[in-house]
Amino acid sequence: MIIAIDGPAASGKGTLGKRIAGHLGLPHLDTGLLYRAVGAHCLASGTLDDIAASAEAARALDVSALDPESLRTGALGEAASVVAARPEVRAALVDLQRRFAAQPGGAVLDGRDIGTVICPDATVKLFVTASPEVRADRRFRELAARDPLASYEAVLADIHKRDARDSNRAAAPLLKADDAVLLDTSALGIEETFAAALAIIEAARARAG
Ligand code: DC
Repeated sequence: MIIAIDGPAASGKGTLGKRIAGHLGLPHLDTGLLYRAVGAHCLASGTLDDIAASAEAARALDVSALDPESLRTGALGEAASVVAARPEVRAALVDLQRRFAAQPGGAVLDGRDIGTVICPDATVKLFVTASPEVRADRRFRELAARDPLASYEAVLADIHKRDARDSNRAAAPLLKADDAVLLDTSALGIEETFAAALAIIEAARARAG
């Protein structure tokens, strides 16, 4: 069973994907980490504006060496969004993601184009979203726990900027697949979101026989 979870920045899709994968005993890939790792490499080597260098970094990516903790920063989210807009970078990461999805027993993948491009035949497709203000508030609370100078306004501005770039790019823009189920978590907590997602997965499983 392949479960595709897409949605905008800070929608909670990563937390949900991890939780679902743990519950079902499936491997989980947060595909945002792939783009973050490419962005990190380009920032470190001063090649963020260089399309060929970013595509080369994507081709050379070692998935087993990804460090989620160091990659989940605001600056790397921004760098990831820049390199992710390039078709050359996206093309270099397609096979890796499809191989992950094709593991025996299935997998859970989350990102922006899993249900539309990477796994169009996924058993279940979820499109997880929440209002920009709710997403900014959740992200701000996480940041404020570590950084007393964190600003809600700055986080909200960053979310608007990333939404615009991820949704308006020509290459695999953030889009709800026609057959994805919309899960708006604006008024839901983590437990309620998990329960709603499980109900959708069970229904899809029953349909698939
Ligand atoms: O989900 P995230 O915030 O870790 O993703 C970082 C950036 O990577 C995001 O702004 C857009 C890009 N991304 C993408 O284009 N396609 C994916 N499947 C996952 C992430």
